Amino acid sequence: MRVETSAQPRPAFDRTRHSTSDPRSIWVVVNKKHPIDAGYRPQIDLVRGYQVAAPAAAALTRLLDDSDVLGLGFKIASAYRSYGYQADVYSGVVESSGRPAADRVSARPGHSEHQTGLAVDLVAPDDPACDFDACFAGTPGGRWLAREAWRYGFVVRYRPGSATVTGYSPEPWHLRYVGRALATELRRTRTDTLEVFFDITGGDYP
Ligand code: DAL
Ligand code: ZN
Repeated sequence: MRVETSAQPRPAFDRTRHSTSDPRSIWVVVNKKHPIDAGYRPQIDLVRGYQVAAPAAAALTRLLDDSDVLGLGFKIASAYRSYGYQADVYSGVVESSGRPAADRVSARPGHSEHQTGLAVDLVAPDDPACDFDACFAGTPGGRWLAREAWRYGFVVRYRPGSATVTGYSPEPWHLRYVGRALATELRRTRTDTLEVFFDITGGDYP
């Protein structure tokens, strides 16, 4: 009897399995060129008192529970944001920093992943100096997220070196749920952005 010992070829990853334009899809790409409707509101679950899109809730709970065991002490700072709430956030940043600077760090209403409920910002209250700052990437929590978030189906959405593609400065605290299959494939292929993976336009506002 012949025994097959060679490795089977890896089945091609199906990039069409979920929509990249439907805001209910875990693969939706929302950026400065691909907005979502003002009235869109996801189906919500609560995680530690924060509103999160239902498909992301269990994975986020596991990530937070595991990070607690490791003593990383994350807290959710922001999760689902309605169109109206994002409008307030954005105009606050414009007021304090001016529009060009605001556009590098805050999405205009209708352009934020937070409106999908699939994005979450984490902070570390025991070590708050780097909350919402690029230096978060060098903290134990930031390093752990960069290394481990994929296991829970999350990606660090705005990476260093990707600003011309994503439209935003690096945000090592902003996680985006895409599901374990895509997070694994992005890691395997060393692809930093959803735009490059799906060949979808990004960058600045049209
Ligand atoms: N800070 C991200 C880009 C947002 O406002 O959605
Ligand atoms: Zn965020």
